[in-house]
Amino acid sequence: MELFKTYKLWPIEPVKGLGCKVWDSSSTEYLDLYGGHAVISVGHCHPKYLEALGSQAAKIGFYSNAVENSLQVTLAHKLGEACGYADYNLFLCNSGAEANENAMKLASFVTGRAKILACSKAFHGRTSGAVAVTDNPKIQSPFNKTGNVEFIPLNDVAALESKLATKEFAAVIIEGIQGVAGIWEPTADFLKAARTSCDKYGTLLIMDEVQSGYGRTGYFYAHQKHGIKADIVSMAKGMGNGFPIGGIIINPSIAATYGMLGTTFGGNHLACAAAISVLDIMKDEKLMQNAAAVGEFLMQNLQGNKAVKQLRGRGLMIGIEVKEGYETLRDRLLFEKHIFTGGAGVNVIRLLPPLCISRDQAAQFIQSFNELTA
Ligand SMILES: Cc1ncc(COP(=O)(O)O)c(C=O)c1O
Repeated sequence: MELFKTYKLWPIEPVKGLGCKVWDSSSTEYLDLYGGHAVISVGHCHPKYLEALGSQAAKIGFYSNAVENSLQVTLAHKLGEACGYADYNLFLCNSGAEANENAMKLASFVTGRAKILACSKAFHGRTSGAVAVTDNPKIQSPFNKTGNVEFIPLNDVAALESKLATKEFAAVIIEGIQGVAGIWEPTADFLKAARTSCDKYGTLLIMDEVQSGYGRTGYFYAHQKHGIKADIVSMAKGMGNGFPIGGIIINPSIAATYGMLGTTFGGNHLACAAAISVLDIMKDEKLMQNAAAVGEFLMQNLQGNKAVKQLRGRGLMIGIEVKEGYETLRDRLLFEKHIFTGGAGVNVIRLLPPLCISRDQAAQFIQSFNELTA
């Protein structure tokens, strides 16, 4: 059997990782400013994380959601304390798309409405509902296309108000910062208007923090900078530092009924052990503060580079839009300087490093970037 080839691959295989570095099979060292697509939060192979996973695997790795699992309760308490939504309830699943599926399904159950409002250029995942609210027809099959989704331009307050006034929408779903689109942030005005209109018209506000959440921007969730609260927040990527886990946190006014949501693997013992250790390490090592400080350092030092058309984002979620003529810069960073970065289209380099990146490592990236653009 061969693989079903849906990914365009770089001819590099990382076989070892530590902190913010990875090595390939010929021992070439790479600086990781991609974090395996914003997934590595506390760093590759953190010793406390390894110990948590190893010792849990030696006890019990999995049972079922039909029995008690106190690790889920511990995770919920620690997450509540860390994220500033202590009174919300947690439902655990396995990925970002699945988190959004559950968020939208729940909003539809609660409101009795079928429609979801989403934003232009949004990416919310590839399962049927998540891809339906993703503004990219190329990745929607005919099966995924539904009349239940409408899009408005990001940050268009008037369009938002007029759509929600129809009272047809169960939820509006907004990324904390749009990642796949190339790092575009909802404005404070837009998010505040979303909160107000949702309250006025009985719609739920879902913030998708799958990429922008878990401390990456220096806030636990990116939207918290703007002083609003969501009814449901979805998360995944950084939550397990590579162990697959996702979740939604849910406003306490929404009552659970048995069977309304469910999963076989969600919240399993190993995933919970990984997620608990991520939260402990983030707290002990002040990684949210580090994300804010190193992100600021990167922004300041990239400003003014002649290749840069626009810098967007905050913390360790940075989009560098490069000018025409610099389309190969991302490949050159990888092959000439051995630095992994993310991309969006051909002209945006996305920086999504582990939250433990040091100032020296950020400076190494700046130096390489400057050398390649000199
Ligand atoms: C904002 C956002 N939502 C959802 C997803 C989907 O997450 P997953 O690939 O874990 O299903 C992604 C993945 O990139 C994302 O960036």
